[in-house]
This record gives sequence, structure tokens and C-alpha cells, in this order.
Amino acid sequence: MFDPDAEEQRRYWAGIRRRRDPTHPAVEAFAASKLAFIRDALPGDARTMLEVGAGNGYFSRSFAEAFDLTALDASANMLAMNPLPPARKVEGVAEALPFADDAFDVVFAGNLLHHLEAPAIAVREMARVARRHVVLLEPNALNPAMLLFGLLKRAERGALKFTPGYLRDLGRGVGLRLRAATVLGAVLPNRTPAAALPLVRHLERPSPLGFYAIAVFDV
Ligand SMILES: C[S@@+](CC[C@H](N)C(=O)[O-])C[C@H]1O[C@@H](n2cnc3c(N)ncnc32)[C@H](O)[C@@H]1O
Repeated sequence: MFDPDAEEQRRYWAGIRRRRDPTHPAVEAFAASKLAFIRDALPGDARTMLEVGAGNGYFSRSFAEAFDLTALDASANMLAMNPLPPARKVEGVAEALPFADDAFDVVFAGNLLHHLEAPAIAVREMARVARRHVVLLEPNALNPAMLLFGLLKRAERGALKFTPGYLRDLGRGVGLRLRAATVLGAVLPNRTPAAALPLVRHLERPSPLGFYAIAVFDV
């Protein structure tokens, strides 16, 4: 299996011109269920959050309502489309985060790690700058649609290994302690038509074949 390398990924994200806006109802529904699980899993006084690989803000828009959020991404192009204020957006790479140790209560990455050649290096960096918690969210390779997506789309090839167990082991592998985990999701932010939401929204609950795996860790 050949994963796209870092340079190929960089060119891919630099070339994205059109993505759904974070205010699209499908994107809002996609983010809301994940935010609800994560907010419930974390203590109420966990306030500052770094989002790594925030892209154009599918999570950032909702998460900024629940956390004091800073968004980092390697792509200036993606960050330019992210709705956070400029002072809250940082260009940088997950493998060498430009922050001090213990700088944020929570460090979160959603749909980033499967794009990296060495995800464990990024998770180790996340653990370094997290004072209390690390949250990982990735497509669930056990879901048939996600599996197919990974097989057909070159930029998604890395997702083929991201089972929920693999995600949990990534955190444990850098010494993090698992606090909560789930598999959920039936909304695809870029693809689910708004007209399908009334039906699909009901499927946004934990299921082994859900589209996304989430693992919440203590540092
Ligand atoms: C699939 S998008 C996810 C964006 C957002 N988290 C979401 O779920 O909509 C992956 C993002 O990771 C960024 N990225 C890729 N490699 C990166 C790296 N090494 N460090 C930081 N960001 C990176 C890309 O620029 C892109 O914005």
C-alpha cells in the first residue's frame, strides 16, 4: 500500500479551492455530535484547546463555542478559509508544534492523523503541549463507506489502518491514559445532502460501524 507522502499532501491541501462552509447544516450536525461526546467526557473546567490540523474549520466553528480555541494547520490556504479570528490561527506542523510544554488544557486533532506519514510523532507532540487531555478523532476503517473511500481516494489512503483500536493504541503508545472512547457518526460533512439530515441526524449515535472513532485521553 502506498501512502501519499508529506510533499504530496502539502500540495493537495494548498490546492483545495472549494469546501463546504462550516455554517452548512451538514457540517454543523457533523461537529455537534462529536463536540457533545467530547465535552461530556472532559471535566467542565477544561477550557483552553489547541486544534491541530483545523483546516477550514469544520470543528473549529462549533468547538470555539465550548472552548477557548486556537487552531493550527500546515496549510495557509486551509487556514484562510477557517472562520476563527486571525489571532487564533497559527500556521505550523503537527510534528513540531510551536508551543511550550503544557500550553493548553486540551489538544484535539480531527481527521488529521490519517494524512500523516508518522502519526505517532504528531501524537507525541500533542501530548507534550497538552496540560491535561488529548482527544483524537479519525475516520473508522471498519465502516464500509470509509474503507471504500480510503481505497478509492489517494489522499485518504492512510485512513485504511485507522480502526478504533489503532487510534486508542496511538495514544497509549505515547504514554497517554484512555479516559473515554466511542465510535459514532452518520453525517459526512462534505457529502451528506442537507435534505437527508432529518433522517441521518437520528443515526448520529454510538455504533461499531459509525463513521468516526474518538478517543479521549488523560495526559
Ligand atoms: C482532512 S483535513 C481536516 C480538517 C478539519 N480538522 C476537518 O475535520 O474538517 C486535514 C487537514 O490537516 C492539515 N495537515 C496536513 N498535514 C499536516 C501537518 N503535518 N501538520 C498540520 N496540519 C496538517 C491539512 O492542511 C488539512 O487542513
